[in-house]
Amino acid sequence: MKIGFFDSGIGGLTVLNEALEIIPNEDYIYYADVLHVPYGTKPKEEVRDYVFEAVEFLSKKDMKALVIACNTATSIAVDDLRHKFDFPIIGMEPAVKPAVEKNSNINKRVLVFATDLTLKEEKFKKLISKVDNDNIVDFLPLGGLVQFAESYVFDEEVITKYLIKELSSLDLNLYSTVVLGCTHFPIYKNIFRKVLPSQIAIIDGNLGTIKNLKATLEKNNLLNGGDSHITFYHSGKLVRDDKIIHKYNDILALLNSTV
Ligand code: DGL
Repeated sequence: MKIGFFDSGIGGLTVLNEALEIIPNEDYIYYADVLHVPYGTKPKEEVRDYVFEAVEFLSKKDMKALVIACNTATSIAVDDLRHKFDFPIIGMEPAVKPAVEKNSNINKRVLVFATDLTLKEEKFKKLISKVDNDNIVDFLPLGGLVQFAESYVFDEEVITKYLIKELSSLDLNLYSTVVLGCTHFPIYKNIFRKVLPSQIAIIDGNLGTIKNLKATLEKNNLLNGGDSHITFYHSGKLVRDDKIIHKYNDILALLNSTV
């Protein structure tokens, strides 16, 4: 049986990449909802329908666990998905808790980047009110990065210009940690590293998610079933085009070279 990974587009590859590293003896399904990406700028009811449609499809694919490798989809649908489906579902949320813990004694602030929809959602507000007791968390939507990634724009100059413009209203010296709260963003981690002052640590929830996945598989006696083979789907259709598969493999290779 396989482990499913689901995202609106290529962002979930940043999470899958971590899984390939930590639990390589598995076969994977990667499902990108390319017909409906981006999710982060759409109404939540619409996104919820897309997510359910995708998971319904995946549920028929001999899957032993599913990672919703998308913060936006998780915040909209994970609780309802867990009610409907009986395989383990691992969701993602911006890594605000570890960021706040890291910063509690040093009098610096935490800055969370995510999609518009993630930041507007009740789940994010609840997370903030639970962990941000000292009011040190600020946030900023960076949906433009999703658009760039989905158009395969990886040019350093273009992305740097975008980031500098988006961050221009902030005093970055106030911060010691940035949270990448959208799975598309680690694609640009090297560029974030150059744009942000060096005292700022950049964290994401990918490793935590995969540790959670591994523990869940272990608990259910489901570990070790394959050899890192990945089957790709695009919005309910098997990807057969070698060029697309190559592109995905190129992105996975690129991710291995990020800081
Ligand atoms: N990769 C997604 C996330 O983690 C969503 C991007 C989008 O479709 O807007 O939030």
